[in-house]
Amino acid sequence: MSYAIIGFGKVGQALASAFARKNIEVAVASRRPAEALAPQARAIGPTVVAKSLRDALEADTIILAVPFGEHREVAKALPSWEGKTVIDAMNALVPPEELDGLPSSAFVAKAFTGAKLVKVFNHLVAATLAADPVVEGGHRVVFLSGDDEDATAPVADLAKQLGFAPVRLGKLNEGGALVHARGRVWGQLIFQDLFKKEQ
Ligand SMILES: NC(=O)c1ccc[n+]([C@@H]2O[C@H](COP(=O)([O-])OP(=O)(O)OC[C@H]3O[C@@H](n4cnc5c(N)ncnc54)[C@H](OP(=O)(O)O)[C@@H]3O)[C@@H](O)[C@H]2O)c1
Repeated sequence: MSYAIIGFGKVGQALASAFARKNIEVAVASRRPAEALAPQARAIGPTVVAKSLRDALEADTIILAVPFGEHREVAKALPSWEGKTVIDAMNALVPPEELDGLPSSAFVAKAFTGAKLVKVFNHLVAATLAADPVVEGGHRVVFLSGDDEDATAPVADLAKQLGFAPVRLGKLNEGGALVHARGRVWGQLIFQDLFKKEQ
């Protein structure tokens, strides 16, 4: 598996820290050239490699950490998304009418034709996402949803490798609705990050 984070702001850097903590290689990219991102990437860790957008998109798993409205620009950067997994860490803070009545990740998936899309990492604030997920003897929870089981399983494995406890919610418009932002309304599991199992 090869990974790239597109968007190197608060969430992109938080996720890069999670990869660095576990020595997993990850490319990071934005609209700026690689050289502009390289000092910050190096400061996070040696496994975080700044690349141009085009080079970063060679990875087979692409994490979207750009403002929601920018996802279409990222999608346009490749002629085909066949064979790729796209991880949507974005929140659509736009009126639901602008999403054709779809959950925001299903709307995003339309732009990435051929890719398999998994929603995860969107429900934690960046500072929480950046912090060590091992907390008080437990693992911080991340909620995954997606319409494609083949893609959700390896992304759950990645979340585990990064130290999180993945919880699979099912399809985007089913359990996934619990981690969806709809305009200014947050799904009920957004910001939830730890839970205790019943014994
Ligand atoms: N902040 C949070 O706590 C939080 C938590 C969960 C989810 N989210 C979601 O995560 C996403 C990112 O939020 P953020 O707070 O990290 O935003 P941010 O700090 O503003 O960073 C956005 C990044 O996206 C890059 N970017 C913008 N347009 C791009 C494009 N067309 N192609 C490639 N890169 C592009 C920007 O870099 P350049 O200007 O160099 O291109 C910047 O590095 C949003 O969708 C947000 O809803 C945020």
